Amino acid sequence: MCSMNEELIKNADASYQLAEQNAAHYFQSLYEQVTQRSFIPILTKDFQSWKQNHIHRHSILSFLSGRKGKPDTRAYHNYIQWLNYTGKLENYLDRSISYIFMRDLGKSLDAPETQKRVRRVVENLKNNLTNSTQTNRGIKIERFSLAELYRMAQKEGIELTMIWLLEKLKTVSSNIPNGMDAENAQRKLIKIIAGVIMHEVEEMGDEISLEERTQKLDAAIRLGYAYGLTYPFIDDLLDAKILSIEEEKKYSDLIRSTLITGTVPELGEWSGKNVNLIRYIHAELRDAFEYIKSHLRPETEQKFFEQAYVFFNSQEVDRLKTLSEPNYSNEELYIPVILKSSSSRLIVRSVISAPEDEGFEERTFFYGIYNQLADDFADMDEDLKEGRVTPYTYYLKYHDKRDNLINPFELYWTVISNLIHEVYHSDSKACEVILDRAINGLKRFKRRMGTERYNEIMKLFAFGIPKFNRVIQNLVRKADDVDFFDKLLRDQMITNLKNERQEREVFKDTVETIRKEINHLLKIPKIKNVEPIIDAANYSLEGDGKRLRPIMTWVMGVNEYGLDKSAIVPLLKSLEYMHTASLIFDDLPSQDNSSVRRGRPTLHQVFNVSIAELTGLFLTQKAIEEQASLNYFDSKTVLTVIHYSAQMTALMCTGQAMDLDSKGKQLTLEQLNTLCFYKTGIAFEASLIMPAILAQAKESEMEALKKFAHHAGIAFQIKDDLLDVEGDTVLLGKPIGKDAENNNSTFVSVLGPDGARKKMWEHYCLAMEALEDVPRNISFLKHLLNYIVNRDH
Ligand code: IPE
Ligand code: IPE
Ligand code: MG
Ligand code: MG
Ligand code: MG
Repeated sequence: MCSMNEELIKNADASYQLAEQNAAHYFQSLYEQVTQRSFIPILTKDFQSWKQNHIHRHSILSFLSGRKGKPDTRAYHNYIQWLNYTGKLENYLDRSISYIFMRDLGKSLDAPETQKRVRRVVENLKNNLTNSTQTNRGIKIERFSLAELYRMAQKEGIELTMIWLLEKLKTVSSNIPNGMDAENAQRKLIKIIAGVIMHEVEEMGDEISLEERTQKLDAAIRLGYAYGLTYPFIDDLLDAKILSIEEEKKYSDLIRSTLITGTVPELGEWSGKNVNLIRYIHAELRDAFEYIKSHLRPETEQKFFEQAYVFFNSQEVDRLKTLSEPNYSNEELYIPVILKSSSSRLIVRSVISAPEDEGFEERTFFYGIYNQLADDFADMDEDLKEGRVTPYTYYLKYHDKRDNLINPFELYWTVISNLIHEVYHSDSKACEVILDRAINGLKRFKRRMGTERYNEIMKLFAFGIPKFNRVIQNLVRKADDVDFFDKLLRDQMITNLKNERQEREVFKDTVETIRKEINHLLKIPKIKNVEPIIDAANYSLEGDGKRLRPIMTWVMGVNEYGLDKSAIVPLLKSLEYMHTASLIFDDLPSQDNSSVRRGRPTLHQVFNVSIAELTGLFLTQKAIEEQASLNYFDSKTVLTVIHYSAQMTALMCTGQAMDLDSKGKQLTLEQLNTLCFYKTGIAFEASLIMPAILAQAKESEMEALKKFAHHAGIAFQIKDDLLDVEGDTVLLGKPIGKDAENNNSTFVSVLGPDGARKKMWEHYCLAMEALEDVPRNISFLKHLLNYIVNRDH
């Protein structure tokens, strides 16, 4: 056992050393070029012709499309529209897609096949973008919204994969410890998954059957997730200094052992303070690892393990460096960088078991350090603050004490020159795109850091290349058309995720605050202190209900329609009274026969069936009494409310009757929809429409709200049906398994859990889309809907 391990360790070390030798060789060639500064004449000449297309002095075009009209490149929809309007969209997408084909797919742009593919992707993307910005009016349904993702999944027939992924992303982000950036972790994961999907799609070819395509996309998403997990949970976690020194050592030994032996060791005893975090990560990474392993083909298996080990080990080597060590050699600084940045991309092809492609491997190997130097440049100040060793931070600290240190900025240009002329053989497209990217990188950096800090940094790093620096800085000031779609997406995604999180916090606070206030309003006072029925009603009202319906009414009524809170108190009470009455009836032995509700014994258990029946009736009457005392509104409006409310209550009874009648029957989807809308959706509708009536909202707005409530209500009931099978009794406060016990016909019994989930998400999308026509701040309703499908009680 022990000797086998030693053997394996020896093999791993040997393959790492081999990788190091290759990297050293590459480094040596870069070193020679950087000391000769050969990039200066080469790139000066390249920029000379490059700028023809990027500096437009006083041309009609620059006048028409001039800076004035140009929206902030970070305002996604406006920017795309502006590009389209000025005729720049095609070029913009072309350089962006070309770049991605080079960087992520390791292609060379002079291959006719690649050019064809790039053109096709650009065409599709252009159509997609120009259509969606027109129809969505660019405001409400954002890019990367769950609804949009799910719609995309539907087109490909991978709904269940998407549902699985959304669930995973949610769990990951809730497990990201404080001190790490949850949004960034999610973004990186999504990016890695997108990268794996792209590889898979490029490998697929055109003749593939739909079924096979679905299957491959499913695997690509799961593999992407499995591989992507290593970013937040290995590299970022070890970087974030969350684990103690002992934990860190133990954890990285665990990973190392996994990669060397090909099996995940048991976690065993974990004595550190992060035991829960590590348990979750261990389980999740083990599943991920097993999934990848089971998909590897024998031909690619060994390569995968070698690359994974090189990736992990080079990061370890890099991470263990400290800024206080003054004597690192250039090799010690750069070889791990070359290794980690190339292996992270090389491995993607092994993860999907794509066939060997020498061109890809070579180009990707040379490419990595370019990307890493660009990233490290952008993060320089942050890395410095955190005390991390990167070529830039190390140079900043030691350049005046050590004249043999390579200047990373000069090395960066050397890599660029080498890529354009050696790796891509002076191909004009590659040259164009790489220079676009380089100037764009500096522009973005300048904008982010401010001109002052930017100039300071430039002075330091470009000290030895003043003439070349003047060329560059002139371009940074004046060149146009150098921005990229992937950067736009990145910025947009971070903004969205951060907004989303902030809105979710506001939603949670709002719900919690209003819920408490409503709880205080509900109790029915006794008049003569002898009415047992009031005790019964209060017993039901005191239970731990979510109060969703009156909360919706409150938020829309007060926050959106500006109604006075005290004026609508009777409406809030009436809604919860009606709802509670419906639950009392629903739990009766003659209906669902349930013994627990809102975490306590049901009313008919505590009192008796006749009291429960009377209490249900009592509460519906109380509801009308409340509505009739909406004294702050004119009586005609109040009558409309009461009329509407009575109709809705009647429909709800119809729904419950249909529900009971469905026992043992196989309902059609249409019947299920109607049933669910009547028994559950109606109450959601009423909660939104009654305040709208009081506020005399427009008919069109009410129509949109009804549509929203219809789909949100059905989604709510499907989730309720799912929780009846998969939920937790304690969290729910009611028994599970009731539907099966009663032989009820539900979405789950008719379609199975997965089929029901798909329908739930379909209604989720329809509800979200309905919100586009609600002329209000829809943040609350959006998050309510998210809550509905994600809740566990
Ligand atoms: C339960 O409603 C009845 C259904 C419509 C499925 P809720 O889940 O809103 O119940 P409470 O009010 O929180 O108890
Ligand atoms: C009840 O649906 C809907 C009502 C309007 C009462 P369920 O019967 O599924 O509700 P639970 O699961 O008992 O809360
Ligand atoms: Mg029922
Ligand atoms: Mg029930
Ligand atoms: Mg139920």
